[in-house]
Amino acid sequence: MARFNVIQFIREQWKTLPVCSGDVSSKAIMLTGTNVGVGLEAAVHFAGMKPQLLLATCRDEEKCKRTREVVLERTVLDNYPEDSTKVASWPLNLNTFDSVREFADRFAAEALAGAQLNILVANAGVYMQSYTKTRDGWELMLQVNYLSTALLSILMLPYLIKSSNVDSPSRLVVVSSLGHYFGSRKLTGTDKWTSILGTINDENFCGSIDRYVLSKLLDVMFIRELVARLPEPTPVVACTVNPGFCRSRLFRDTETKWYTRPFASFLNYSPLSRTSEEGSRTLLHAAIGGEDSAIHGRYLSGCEVLEESSYLFTPEGKAFSGRLWTETVDLLSKVDNRVPGIIKQNLRVD
Ligand SMILES: NC(=O)c1ccc[n+]([C@@H]2O[C@H](COP(=O)([O-])OP(=O)(O)OC[C@H]3O[C@@H](n4cnc5c(N)ncnc54)[C@H](OP(=O)(O)O)[C@@H]3O)[C@@H](O)[C@H]2O)c1
Repeated sequence: MARFNVIQFIREQWKTLPVCSGDVSSKAIMLTGTNVGVGLEAAVHFAGMKPQLLLATCRDEEKCKRTREVVLERTVLDNYPEDSTKVASWPLNLNTFDSVREFADRFAAEALAGAQLNILVANAGVYMQSYTKTRDGWELMLQVNYLSTALLSILMLPYLIKSSNVDSPSRLVVVSSLGHYFGSRKLTGTDKWTSILGTINDENFCGSIDRYVLSKLLDVMFIRELVARLPEPTPVVACTVNPGFCRSRLFRDTETKWYTRPFASFLNYSPLSRTSEEGSRTLLHAAIGGEDSAIHGRYLSGCEVLEESSYLFTPEGKAFSGRLWTETVDLLSKVDNRVPGIIKQNLRVD
């Protein structure tokens, strides 16, 4: 259990991160949020390893087309254009549950034709300066960073399990943040809340930074709760990863107002920040590096397993996390009727 440590943070930011590589020629790798930032850089790295399939998702068709071109332009493929068919990009917009469901329908059709899924890196994430609601009625960061990411993870779980084998379990990686250490700041008196998701969805609950870091703490909780219910030995090794403080488009929404613009500039020009390419190395490590048993259920940062937020180990944190799992599964079961069956068939019951 840990808290944010500034010395460790600075050391980690300045450390040279390894570029993990491996034989992924028989693996299908899926990444979300790949048109810019850390996700794009990870997609380029993975494409260079020539997986059986790289499925790089973006918000819409236009971004998918452009991303596929960029990934192929930046990847040295010996066998072009044959190898280029192994890079695909499909739309997936986490703002709406419908898009997640449509994506899962399309994947199910491909899976019937033999498609497999060995690695899912749920990287897409957003920061919004002002409270914004999705058409599903959820605050945008809560839906994109947590609820849709959880729905996608559950809907893809059967494919990850099916593609797994004893020597090489599949991997599910959810991109969290060092911000998760601050995610519990507003979680007081939670035992009195009638609904966790309802309470944090309320506009008056907290400000934008607190919402963002909380969404990243929810990701850590989701993976820990999932792992607690996966069978042993596990067919899917699941973890969260912090890409570190990176220059990217994450804080683009703060650029729209003069008084929040310095915040984005600080993040993007700070000598402490990494490039997105450097940040992407942490995703590669979580997806194909490390020991399965060491990373399963854990939070990774700087290509190492780090202690998660202390809050998770308090009685309140444990109770909150368990209730969050139950509420999330209940909600997502209403959103998609495949969810209850997937949970029942693949996870231990509470
Ligand atoms: N940069 C950092 O310092 C930092 C630190 C810790 C954690 N992270 C996490 O790292 C991940 C990658 O962030 P980044 O820094 O690379 O930021 P970025 O440059 O803004 O990239 C975010 C990616 O997520 C996609 N995305 C956002 N909302 C989406 C939606 N509704 N549906 C589908 N895709 C969506 C974006 O697509 P569009 O361009 O279409 O919006 C983009 O491809 C995020 O989960 C972020 O929270 C970043």
